[in-house]
Amino acid sequence: MDEQLSTVDQEYLRRAIELGRNGLGDVSPNPQVGAVIVKGGELLGEGWHQRYGEAHAELNAIAACDPDDLRGATLYLSLEPCCHQGQQPPCTDAILAAGISRVVVASDDPSDKANGRGLGILRDEGVDVQVAAGDLAEAARLENQGFRKHARSGKPWVLFKSAMSLDGKVATREGDSQWISDASSREKVHQWRSEVDAVAVGIGTAIADDPQLTVRLPGSQRQPRRIVFDSEARLPLDSQLVEQAPEVELIVIVSRAAPRSAVEALETAGAHVLSVSGENEPLRVSDALAQLGALDRPVTSMLLEGGPHLAGAFFDAGEIDELRLFVAPLVIGGASARDPIEGMGASAIAEATRAVSLTTELVADDVLLSARLREW
Ligand SMILES: NC(=O)c1ccc[n+]([C@@H]2O[C@H](COP(=O)([O-])OP(=O)(O)OC[C@H]3O[C@@H](n4cnc5c(N)ncnc54)[C@H](OP(=O)(O)O)[C@@H]3O)[C@@H](O)[C@H]2O)c1
Repeated sequence: MDEQLSTVDQEYLRRAIELGRNGLGDVSPNPQVGAVIVKGGELLGEGWHQRYGEAHAELNAIAACDPDDLRGATLYLSLEPCCHQGQQPPCTDAILAAGISRVVVASDDPSDKANGRGLGILRDEGVDVQVAAGDLAEAARLENQGFRKHARSGKPWVLFKSAMSLDGKVATREGDSQWISDASSREKVHQWRSEVDAVAVGIGTAIADDPQLTVRLPGSQRQPRRIVFDSEARLPLDSQLVEQAPEVELIVIVSRAAPRSAVEALETAGAHVLSVSGENEPLRVSDALAQLGALDRPVTSMLLEGGPHLAGAFFDAGEIDELRLFVAPLVIGGASARDPIEGMGASAIAEATRAVSLTTELVADDVLLSARLREW
């Protein structure tokens, strides 16, 4: 994987990664992929995977070129090409048929069907294949964290977001939390919702805040699936989540002990109910994530919007992959006011989870802290 790429190669790979980003929110459970085709220093064509079930990036880029120009061209890809027949034919076939002689790839595809196989097929057919390493490879991998975690673990990638005061509180001692963050910060959350497969909350938040968990941005069409962790199926039938269930998918995660009548009432109202098992809350979180990842249309990425109790169970299960925390210029105080992540937590600082990366951004008067806990 440690091959030297020229500055020009790196630029085209960066462009391929940038093109792949156009598919964000629309291609899941497939990865985002961008493709650039170049020959003799001239850009012949570009493409990206636009929508799940539709043509892959390689085919779109090839289609954007004059077929007579392709022989001997270089194809830059943000992810290694597929070599299996799925809803689309294998991209390796299209690359070979086009006569492309060099393929430069930014990142690997860890799924069982790929994992270097496509690159092997191309090499066997005499194509010069190069794979990036270092920063470029990492940048490409970071674009597909949901796809990668799902491919490697069968579970969705989890992004936990919370809004807190300067003293780290997410609600007052009375449970009031609306609104801690600025309107611009909340708009960012709507953007993140539009980029993931699902948005999840615990029943405590569903009852306290009666949220919709929908994307409400001008021009937004795609809605994420909404998930409530609710062991006893207590979600009120007149909540906004249930009332909108016929239009925007709602999944309620219950335990085996949930009253049958309550489960049936939720199903009649249009909710999908998943029953999970496990001796404790973190184990039930893991089971829920595995079941969501195994659905016919799997959930590969999830925005966890709290509250503190459910976030604690996710953290104790080791399932929070990234945190985005808005810190607002407020002080709430109070010993009983809630922290963002409860659960058991670490018993010693040496056991605390250290972020692998941390960035800060100013959003109106709030500070947004983004911390990745692991990379897939
Ligand atoms: N500032 C913010 O960003 C923010 C965000 C969200 C919420 N909040 C505030 O937080 C408060 C609500 O939070 P909360 O901690 O009380 O409730 P919560 O975390 O939303 O929900 C907790 C409940 O989820 C249920 N649950 C189901 N399966 C679970 C599992 N596997 N692990 C853990 N819990 C599971 C449990 O109830 P059952 O056993 O009955 O299922 C549990 O009591 C409200 O005041 C809300 O306004 C603030």
